Amino acid sequence: MASEIETDLDKTHSVFPAKARTTRFMGDSAGPLFDVRFRDDLASLLAWRRDVRHFRRDPVGEDVVAELLATAQLAPSVGNSQPWRFVRIRSAALREDLARHVDGEAERAGEAMADRRQAYAALKLHGLREAPEILAVFCDDATEIGAGLGAATMPQTREWSVVMAIHTLWLAARARGLGLGWVSIAEPETVMALLDMPQAWRFVALLCLGEPVEADEVPELERRGWQARLDWRANVSER
Ligand SMILES: Cc1cc2nc3c(=O)[nH]c(=O)nc-3n(C[C@H](O)[C@H](O)[C@H](O)COP(=O)(O)O)c2cc1C
Repeated sequence: MASEIETDLDKTHSVFPAKARTTRFMGDSAGPLFDVRFRDDLASLLAWRRDVRHFRRDPVGEDVVAELLATAQLAPSVGNSQPWRFVRIRSAALREDLARHVDGEAERAGEAMADRRQAYAALKLHGLREAPEILAVFCDDATEIGAGLGAATMPQTREWSVVMAIHTLWLAARARGLGLGWVSIAEPETVMALLDMPQAWRFVALLCLGEPVEADEVPELERRGWQARLDWRANVSER
């Protein structure tokens, strides 16, 4: 019979509020019960996760930031190496340096756009100045955690692990009504130098986090006529 029990998660990650957990369990060893209502909710979460560029300035609570960062790290990683490194940007000067750098890179990219130049210039491509929380995310290529298991043949799996953590954070944020925006229009060396990061770390992303100005089921780039989602069948083939 399904019951409400304390999970290992509560014991090992005190950052998760135990009282708020209402997951029902099938029994001692069968794990949680994900019923049809949960599946509907999950489908909505996936459909309504958006890349957000328009943020309200209201701060995100420290407890929420901690919970999201802990949740992100439930992501899978090659050899369980957990190579993600999150850096919270607290300095207003660094935030402005990053925003200015991204603006410059975006302008440069726009110059190469030819026929879509005007449409590109009208897009908002980051919320680095408004979002209450900015995270720079790196991959620690030199980590000894996991003793290199799985990464010897394809070292890039470490970076993919970091992307898994970002996606987990993205969904967890949306589940709390928060928006996340991925900013990639940045030169890795410049970001590394601005933030004075260790050489062995590789820049993966700048993330803006905060309350979105609006929610929408349709990606902003689709709403603005840049690029619509494809029918999923277009990307599936058989051999
Ligand atoms: C690796 C990656 C890099 C991205 N870089 C940017 C970026 O620099 N600026 C931006 O506005 N959106 C960026 N995006 C967001 C995409 O534009 C967005 O995911 C896509 O248009 C689909 O919209 P949706 O995420 O709302 O479904 C990035 C997304 C990914 C996964």
